Amino acid sequence: MKLISISILSKLLILQYLSVQCLSTQNFDFFYFIQQWPGAYCDSNQSCCFPKTGKPTTNFTIYGLRPNTNDNSSPSNCNTKSVLDKSKISDLIKNLENNWPSLSCPSSDGIKLWSHEWMKYGTCSESELTQHGYFQTALKLKQKINLLQILKNAGNKT
Ligand SMILES: *[C@@H]1O[C@H](CO)[C@@H](O)[C@H](O)[C@H]1NC(C)=O
Ligand SMILES: *[C@@H]1O[C@H](CO)[C@@H](O)[C@H](O)[C@H]1NC(C)=O
Repeated sequence: MKLISISILSKLLILQYLSVQCLSTQNFDFFYFIQQWPGAYCDSNQSCCFPKTGKPTTNFTIYGLRPNTNDNSSPSNCNTKSVLDKSKISDLIKNLENNWPSLSCPSSDGIKLWSHEWMKYGTCSESELTQHGYFQTALKLKQKINLLQILKNAGNKT
């Protein structure tokens, strides 16, 4: 996967366009990797609840990894039989709790959010990524793209 460009939609969500090299049998062309600023989510008028595992650190967190097509459609719920199996991502849970926390109410342990994200978007990338691969890819991208630093550097240039 290759990072092509970064665009800032709003203070809340930052979309990143990632091309997918393998174009075999998939029903999508690239991923949007979306990060959010938890403080902005909580400041907006929707209610926010911190995860049971505690308040997220002051940093961007993952909002989603969503397959998209070149003609701008976003496939969803591609395989309703593929339910997230917690045991398949057990080694990633700690990392997900820190980097992909649920901020919706009532406060939750994250499994509900990750199951939802898998069902809605992950299943549409199953041609490329396993359940473990899907979440691991999101975590790796988060690690690789230090938005806080990128924005800080950009801010220093003006
Ligand atoms: C958010 O809530 C505040 C206070 O209730 C209100 O004044 C404001 O207009 C709301 N903003 C939006 C975008 O709905
Ligand atoms: C914020 O997250 C990035 C990973 O995206 C990490 O490299 C960085 O150290 C974090 N910064 C702080 C202040 O926690």
